[in-house]
Amino acid sequence: MGKEAKGAVVSQLMIDARGVTKSFGTTLALDHVDLQVQAGTVLGLLGPNGAGKTTLVRILTTLLKADSGVAKVAGYDVESDAASLRSMIGLAGQFAAVDEMLTGRENLELVGLLYHLEKPERKRRAEEVLQRLGLEDAADRQVKTYSGGMRRRLDLGASLVGRPAVLILDEPTTGLDPATRIDLWKFIEMLVADGATLLLTTQYLEEADRLADRIVVIDHGHVIAEGTAGELKDQMGADVIEVVVRDPDDLDRVSPLVADLGHGTPVVDRSRNLFTMPADGRVRAVVEAASRLDAAGIEIEDIGMRRPSLDDVFLRLTGHTAEDDDVAGSPGTPGALRRSSR
Ligand SMILES: Nc1ncnc2c1ncn2[C@@H]1O[C@H](COP(=O)(O)OP(=O)(O)OP(=O)(O)O)[C@@H](O)[C@H]1O
Ligand SMILES: [Mg+2]
Repeated sequence: MGKEAKGAVVSQLMIDARGVTKSFGTTLALDHVDLQVQAGTVLGLLGPNGAGKTTLVRILTTLLKADSGVAKVAGYDVESDAASLRSMIGLAGQFAAVDEMLTGRENLELVGLLYHLEKPERKRRAEEVLQRLGLEDAADRQVKTYSGGMRRRLDLGASLVGRPAVLILDEPTTGLDPATRIDLWKFIEMLVADGATLLLTTQYLEEADRLADRIVVIDHGHVIAEGTAGELKDQMGADVIEVVVRDPDDLDRVSPLVADLGHGTPVVDRSRNLFTMPADGRVRAVVEAASRLDAAGIEIEDIGMRRPSLDDVFLRLTGHTAEDDDVAGSPGTPGALRRSSR
């Protein structure tokens, strides 16, 4: 079977990884990871720092060899068909990989050269990408004069010059200001509307919630949950009771006082003096919790009931491990997951 045909036959499953395993020395970065992405859909890959996201991205984009397992992208095996595959995918890395000394336009034309495009075509595609990313005004300035957001856009643009059917973006909006992030989301939505298949790693849950059709959560190299954002939220139960205490020293006293009002594991987010717990019963549970905490002399900054968010899901899934890891500088911040400003 010819390679073109091969790509077409499996067009339904654009990314198909089975049992992918990778160690670095004694670190097991990926442990039998399975991950499938249907054509024309967006998969959000979520996980705290060190979960294995970039490692998986590097394997899927042929930059790194797995120790075992099989991975196909657009029907091409990442090892045996690596050369053909490289022309099919667009990769934008976690760290911008553009040349500072060149202009934005020159960077994009250089990418076209790597794709062996003829000069007129290189120019045409660079122009197109500059327009789509709103970089026309800065096109002929050296990249070293660009802002962080402009660099990100250019980096993403570089991955689009080859018009890839599969786009793999590793934390495309990390470090961007909220306005630029929203611009990029719109752009990504446009690409998907055009039929692109997208795998996106992110530490921003809002980003996954907004862009991803399906979400896979990994932690310590293991897939620990998957589903649509709605399915993941449903796992939390009906509602979440939320208490913000004034004095952080009171946080650990909350759970014993109110645990019987909820069902499921309570989660404490020390960075926000926040206690959350899946619970039913709506107003009654909130009123009861408030009166118990008050009776115990715990000052409440805020208390309420709300629908579960992806944050709750993530804290629940990875919170304990993050506290075990306890990365320096963020004691007890569950999940070590970033939140974009809201
Ligand atoms: N080249 C390498 N050599 C040694 N260890 C590595 C290497 N690359 C990754 N690791 C380790 O593998 C694990 C997974 O790392 P990876 O970069 O895939 O995580 P990540 O989910 O992308 O994290 P982040 O959110 O911080 O980008 C980590 O423990 C990391 O230290
Ligand atoms: Mg990474």
